[in-house]
Amino acid sequence: MDKKIILAIESSCDETAAAVVVNGREVLSNVISSQIDIHTKFGGVVPEVASRKHIEAINAVVTEALEEAKVSLEEIDAIGVTYGPGLVGALLVGLQYAKGLAYSLNKPLIGVNHIEGHISANFIEHKELKPPFVCLVVSGGHTFIVHVKDFGEYEVIGQTRDDAAGEAYDKVARALGLGYPGGPKIDKLAKEGNENAIKFPRANFHDDSLDFSFSGVKSAVLNYLNKMSMTGEEVNKADVAASFQKAVVDVLTDNVMLTCKRKSVKRVAIAGGVASNSALRANLIKEGKKRGIEILFPAPILCTDNAAMIGSAAYFEMLNGLSSNLDLNAKPNLKLGER
Ligand code: KG4
Ligand code: ZN
Repeated sequence: MDKKIILAIESSCDETAAAVVVNGREVLSNVISSQIDIHTKFGGVVPEVASRKHIEAINAVVTEALEEAKVSLEEIDAIGVTYGPGLVGALLVGLQYAKGLAYSLNKPLIGVNHIEGHISANFIEHKELKPPFVCLVVSGGHTFIVHVKDFGEYEVIGQTRDDAAGEAYDKVARALGLGYPGGPKIDKLAKEGNENAIKFPRANFHDDSLDFSFSGVKSAVLNYLNKMSMTGEEVNKADVAASFQKAVVDVLTDNVMLTCKRKSVKRVAIAGGVASNSALRANLIKEGKKRGIEILFPAPILCTDNAAMIGSAAYFEMLNGLSSNLDLNAKPNLKLGER
């Protein structure tokens, strides 16, 4: 296929983002307007506030993405947009904007699954990367191990049964008084702590399952902090951060390595906000090396919510001959592989 330019829009949570991507791999612009400062005041994302802020930002963000890419609307081949999973009001802002553009320009609309977007960030970072590979998607809302069999063909091998990994980071950080978003703060503080200081539990399912559960370790941290406060003992926050992080990273790594073994795959890509975590990266590399498994991760700007990853996923959908109708609706609980 010749050169295809996609304008992509992402608004599923608290980032309003637009990007221009060529052939799914080359990013001409990647503009992200973050609402973190506003949500920090509330200790987490407030859905109604998120929708309103997306409405305020979207036009400027799309305009900036086009200007930075030096591409006009007429030169765009298709418009890619996240339509799920995510916050319904937030998704609708980006989706309605994209539909309006597609209709007025008479260009194809390509609805993209946000998780598929996270996975596709790896196609931007690693220009030669092709399936099959195993992808660990770890973000504030999702925790999945996916066997990427082909472009657009996914098998979910394991997922969280309760909290997402990033959610656990955020809740533990809040209990430690570190602020929101907690992941990067715990990552940093843990470097000064002893990861073996406190033994926090790892969820173990007795059924061969590669699912995750992070609410147990989160509650264990909260109970530990309560107990310390009741007995008047001083808490070493760095030790708590390091020990909690070890519990999370151990189980993520174990399940990824088991997936590779079961599927006979030697390549792992990670994705999502938590993929920026330094301990997770280091541990995956260490365990991967022992088994001859290559570990790939995108640059932090492609790990966090962004629209370039949506533009990449949209391109491969387009290559598969897929596009969406203008009656496409937001799907807050959209599953991976569902159309
Ligand atoms: O992918 P993302 O930007 O948004 C969602 O789709 O959720 O992920 C945000 C999540 C937050 O929970 C944040 O605390 C976490 O990713 N995160 C991290 C790190 N950087 C971001 N968690 C652990 N270590 C990090 N370095
Ligand atoms: Zn995300």
